[in-house]
Order: sequence, then structure tokens, then C-alpha cells
Amino acid sequence: MAVNFRGRSLLTLLDLSGDDIRYLLDVSHLLKSERTAFQINQRFRGKTLAMLFEKRSTRTRCAFETAFGEEGGHPVFLSSSDIQLGVKESIEDTARVLGRMFDAIMFRGFEHQTVETLAEFSGVPVYNGLTDMFHPTQVLADLMTIEENFGQLTGLNFVYTGDGRNNMANSLMVGCATMGVNCTILAPDSLYPESELVDTAKQIAYDSGSALTITSSIKEAVLGADVIYTDVWVSMGEEDKAAERMKLLEPYRVNSEMMEMADNPEVIFMHCLPAVRGNEVTAEVIEGSSSVVWDEAENRKHTIKALMVASLL
Ligand code: CP
Ligand code: NVA
Repeated sequence: MAVNFRGRSLLTLLDLSGDDIRYLLDVSHLLKSERTAFQINQRFRGKTLAMLFEKRSTRTRCAFETAFGEEGGHPVFLSSSDIQLGVKESIEDTARVLGRMFDAIMFRGFEHQTVETLAEFSGVPVYNGLTDMFHPTQVLADLMTIEENFGQLTGLNFVYTGDGRNNMANSLMVGCATMGVNCTILAPDSLYPESELVDTAKQIAYDSGSALTITSSIKEAVLGADVIYTDVWVSMGEEDKAAERMKLLEPYRVNSEMMEMADNPEVIFMHCLPAVRGNEVTAEVIEGSSSVVWDEAENRKHTIKALMVASLL
């Protein structure tokens, strides 16, 4: 089906159909090959992007900034300690003002409601660069990386192990379900994802012919995995939960033994990064031959550029 993405925001993958994601991935592969061939384009010449950050970032900031800049656009970094975002001015008013000056806005921060308000009041495309609830642009890069490794998405077995209720688990569940990837969230019961989102994702998985499983059994989850994915045990803003998480998540660390339990010589290891070696993954696995984390990080740029090309041109 023909996809017209012009003018659209990306707040959560729940906003995207399978055709939308297919389109964005196709554009991403194309843009990556252009970049690899040193082809220079100026697609964003004369355009501006506001980049709002309440939390730290390496990959997301650099991906947006370089992707926009190398296409001739002007990205402007705005940290929440420098602007009036919700402090001396409501989010609605900031959104209205930014919408008059910029062609698009990206936001990284705490409450998901903030990115929704920016989209509602700015009148320009808004991209979620991570909230407490979702991290959709990361999952576009993850799907691209999986496709590069296996040549397909449909029917693959994807396992996420760790904090099952964070922004990555939430977004991966939805992204896999939409694209027909069988997804297992492996976590202790107390860190299972919210049941309402699980029900929604299960319906999406059913429609795409895939399965979504939530389990605390490592053996059940990992056997036959094509991808083993993890994320930090303590997300930004939850630093006070560190001690409790270490205790709960220790058995769910990705180590060589877990990789071998997949019983699949082709299994790959993925991580959105930044990683805490020795917590959620051992140094041996992240540095090992199954790890594709650096390709995954690079693909943030190609997928984010694709998203902006699709929505701004
Ligand atoms: N994966 C990711 O979002 O990394 P940053 O926090 O460095 O942006
Ligand atoms: N769950 C992590 C993802 C970082 C990219 C966090 O929110 O800190």
C-alpha cells in the first residue's frame, strides 16, 4: 500500500502501521547506501529542527543532529535547563512558539504527555526521542539491524530480557508485533509490562500472524531465539531503584551461557546502549562475535534521517 508520511509525527510505534514501518525501513536502507557511497544531498536545506532535551543522550542527539545537518538543515539543541519548557511557560505555549520558528521538533524527556502536548500544539511534526514510556526511533534502528542480519523480519524469534516495563520493552513489543516478529519479554513477575499495553500488542501480533509471550522462565524464552536483546536495569530517572533492580535482575543477565541456550549458531546480541557491562550483559557477550551493537547504534542515524525525509519533504 502507498504510504504518505508527510507532516506526520512519531510519538509511539502504536501510531504506525506495518506498511508505515516497511516504508521507513526501505527509505533507511536507501539512505544508508547513499551515505556509504559518499553521496551528498541537501534535502533539508533551509529547514530547522528544534531538539529539546530533559535527559542526557549520546546516540539520539548525535543521530538527529548529524542526519539533519548533513542534509543541509539547521538543528538547534535546547536543553531544559536553558529554555522555559514547563518552568516559566506552559508546554502548550512553548509548543506554539517553536512551531512558528521550526519545521520540526524532537523531544527527549520524562513524561510521555509532554511529547503529546508538543505535537498537539506546535502544528509541525514532532519526534519522540525517548520518554519514560516509549523509545520508538530506537526500535526503527533495531528492526533495520535485524533485517540486515537475517534478510527478513517476519517469523523471527526475538527475546528481550531485563526490565520488562521500561520504554524499550514497551516499544519493542509493539514494533515486533507490528512487523510479524515473535516477541518474548523475559523478566521477573514484578517487572512485567503493563497488562493494558500487553493486550494491545497481543492484538497487533495476532493481526500480523506473530506471537507475544511474557515469561519469567529463561529456558522457555531463550530456546530457538534469533535475537537476544537487553537494556540497562535502571533507566534514566529511576536511579533510586538501583539496589532493588540488581537483586531482581541478576538471573536475567545476558552471558555466554544464555546465548548458548538459544541453540542457534546465528543468534545475535543487541542492546540500545549505553550498556553497563557486568550488569545486564557481560563484556564477553557485548564484545563477542554475535554482538551487532555498533551497527545498531549507526542505524539510529539512517532510520532517524528516513523518518525526517518521510515527514518533512
Ligand atoms: N540508545 C539511545 O537512545 O542512546 P542515547 O541515550 O545515548 O541517546
Ligand atoms: N531504558 C533506557 C534507555 C536508554 C536509551 C533509559 O530510559 O534510560
